[in-house]
Amino acid sequence: MKDIKEKAYAKINISLDITGCRDDGYHDMMMVMQTVSICDDIKISLNDSGTIRAYSNLRFIPGDDRNLAVRAAKRYLEEIGERVSGLRIDIRKDIPVGAGMGGGSSDAAAVLRGMNRLFDDRLSPDELQKLAENVGSDTAFCVKGGTALAEGRGEILTELPDFPDCFFVVCKPEFSISTPELFKKIDAVPLRHHPDTCGILDALNKGNLKEICRRMYNVFEDVDDRRMRTVAEIKNRLLDFGTLGSIMTGTGSAVFGVFEDKNKAQLAAESLKQDYRFCFTAMPVKKLM
Ligand code: C5P
Repeated sequence: MKDIKEKAYAKINISLDITGCRDDGYHDMMMVMQTVSICDDIKISLNDSGTIRAYSNLRFIPGDDRNLAVRAAKRYLEEIGERVSGLRIDIRKDIPVGAGMGGGSSDAAAVLRGMNRLFDDRLSPDELQKLAENVGSDTAFCVKGGTALAEGRGEILTELPDFPDCFFVVCKPEFSISTPELFKKIDAVPLRHHPDTCGILDALNKGNLKEICRRMYNVFEDVDDRRMRTVAEIKNRLLDFGTLGSIMTGTGSAVFGVFEDKNKAQLAAESLKQDYRFCFTAMPVKKLM
């Protein structure tokens, strides 16, 4: 049987708000999410190994059940009531790890799309999305991608109009920030500001890039953590190059800026690359399915 290949696109947060604490230990969120053109490459192959394992070009990525991609493949098989004699998932990672760009979630979502192709589209896109909810908080969004409002843990999704054409410059400092650690830190302080999510939705409906960028905001940047100084420094550098708006994505540590002009974006990326190894330009990606 032929190998199945899928692109696992990264996400960025155009806004990130925390609207409440839940009884299950999670937080209620309100986030505008956007798929971007930075991606991992996924290959799924059937074999006779008797196991389902993942292999990656990065040695520290686990190959067993700790990997969301492996859990996604097993959940899919359970759901459709099929068994396989063995499955190999190859993951070529280009999305920076520990960046707040949903790399692990996106790999898992790509595996769900790939498994569904392997089994003749047994599940509808909505069914795949529902299945993804139990794999990780951002996995449901990554199944269809595009532009969406995510609420609840991140799994309640509303499709939004396509993001206006633009260029993103994404820059990830060398350090990563642990997601549970940052949630704990934010619980310790009252939130000073919230993003104007309604204003962003209005601006998206009008296709007004400047109005969107003016309102981008991530509440995690308010956390008292010295690493936020580096985040602020990258934002300032992006401003020097004329970004329309810049925030940290998810729980970081990647920061992005939005540009209308490709040349300006490239100049900003080249400059930042001198100080930060992970620095890319990317574009918005429309809905995947
Ligand atoms: O679901 P995921 O594994 O991505 O979440 C990682 C951790 O982030 C959770 O264990 C939880 O501590 C925190 N989290 C949260 N509220 C959310 C999403 C994640 O508190 N909506």
